Amino acid sequence: MHNKIDLDKIDINVKPPTEEPARQYYFMAKCREWVREFEQKNGHCPCFFIQTFGCQMNAHDSEKLRGILLQAGLTEEKSEACDFVLYNTCTVRDNANQKVYGHLGYLQTLKKKNPHMKIALCGCMMQENTAVERIRKSYPFVDLIFGTHNIFKLAELFYVCQTSGPMVVDVWESGDAAVEKLPSRRKYAFKSGINIMYGCNNFCSYCIVPYVRGRERSREPEEILSEIRALACDGVKEIMLLGQNVNSYGKTLKNPVSFAWLLRQAAQVAGIERIRFMTSHPKDLSDELIEAMRDCPKVCRHLHLPLQSGSSRILKIMNRRYTKEQYLELVGKIRQAIPDISLTTDIIVGFPGETEEDFLETLDVVEKVRYDSAFTFVYSKRAGTPAAVMENQVPEAVVKERFDRLLRQVQQIASQVCMRDAGAIQQVLVECENDHQKGYVSGRLGNNLLVHFPGEASLIGKLVSVKLTEAKGFYYIGRMTEKD
Ligand code: 5AD
Ligand code: SF4
Repeated sequence: MHNKIDLDKIDINVKPPTEEPARQYYFMAKCREWVREFEQKNGHCPCFFIQTFGCQMNAHDSEKLRGILLQAGLTEEKSEACDFVLYNTCTVRDNANQKVYGHLGYLQTLKKKNPHMKIALCGCMMQENTAVERIRKSYPFVDLIFGTHNIFKLAELFYVCQTSGPMVVDVWESGDAAVEKLPSRRKYAFKSGINIMYGCNNFCSYCIVPYVRGRERSREPEEILSEIRALACDGVKEIMLLGQNVNSYGKTLKNPVSFAWLLRQAAQVAGIERIRFMTSHPKDLSDELIEAMRDCPKVCRHLHLPLQSGSSRILKIMNRRYTKEQYLELVGKIRQAIPDISLTTDIIVGFPGETEEDFLETLDVVEKVRYDSAFTFVYSKRAGTPAAVMENQVPEAVVKERFDRLLRQVQQIASQVCMRDAGAIQQVLVECENDHQKGYVSGRLGNNLLVHFPGEASLIGKLVSVKLTEAKGFYYIGRMTEKD
């Protein structure tokens, strides 16, 4: 999805333009010339591999990175054994960082076998000085580092990295103007993420996101809606509106609008059949949004509503700005308006100072809300966040024991809740052929659960009615049927 710009018509013998995105198209054309030369010299087209760590935002960023490299003439491979390896990193918890360091050792051995190989790192982890310094010192074979604010510059950085010697590092402190209208290559033809805002202003005391993704910036609604219309023309049926806190969308625009308004506008785009969004902060979830969800059948009956902790005392120290009671009240209001809603959540175990009583409050909320699923995380100390310097960090063994208890409870409830639609007929968006059973396809319900049923590849990308015949715990087996 991008401006149809003919790269062959760009004069690459003049100086690069200074304005964007023209500058990046100029460098894509330069890269194409470099690709042709590489091919003549080495007898094969240079290939790339992108590995994404972390959340949906990163996955969507990777689609943009992929689009740029394909436009520049490279081919995509399914493994790291290729000429350009790009890791789009995450730093929300320390284990994400450790995974990257672990992979780098492996990349070094591959690089020894392939003298053309270049290694690039981008994304949230690269916004941390300490990580970049460690890579400079201990992993000098890395060729390119850039951050979250300048991913649009990949063509230029790729070109510079291929034509210069030492490690290229280009990390920006902030980025007010995200450059849109560049190539992107979706993983699925029929569904797509769309950034509606960037960054976060909430500063939950454990979270590094506001430091690495910067201040909250909303995109203009017209820009978003024209992107949605273009996606619909391109065959997209399902969209996911993306932001760290979509409920505060539009508040800082020159002409402020609400997220609920945007949702209603998006629902009017012909061809779009399903709308999802991620992530909602409970403190900003308005009645207006609940009403919009209730009124628009295209909006999936699914809400991801991060709890983090069930203890009002801990929530206060986390700077979440709601109490246990307010959260439960909100859930009650949502369920009253939309009884068939699926609720999912994020929970952190072992935040500094969390006592057994605090933890029991979390279990109590899980018991009361009965989530369809919950992402459970062990608290991870992130340097530079207020929580990192809090005293009374919880001992590892205590955290592990609590984490296991929470997981057991979440799974037990989820296995009951998820299967409540057994026997019903529901709409499924077919995603792929089933890997395990020949003659079956797999797709997703509105609440994101997987359904496998007999069908052919020609169904991929279509919304079909499926009777959910067998409940299997966290997925269904079904059979295609007439609509109810
Ligand atoms: N430790 C553990 N989990 C965290 N999250 C964010 N920061 C941390 C941290 N320091 C979790 C939150 C958030 C999700 C994306 O990641 O639950 O909702
Ligand atoms: Fe992090 Fe809180 Fe912002 Fe979510 S809302 S990204 S948890 S600071």
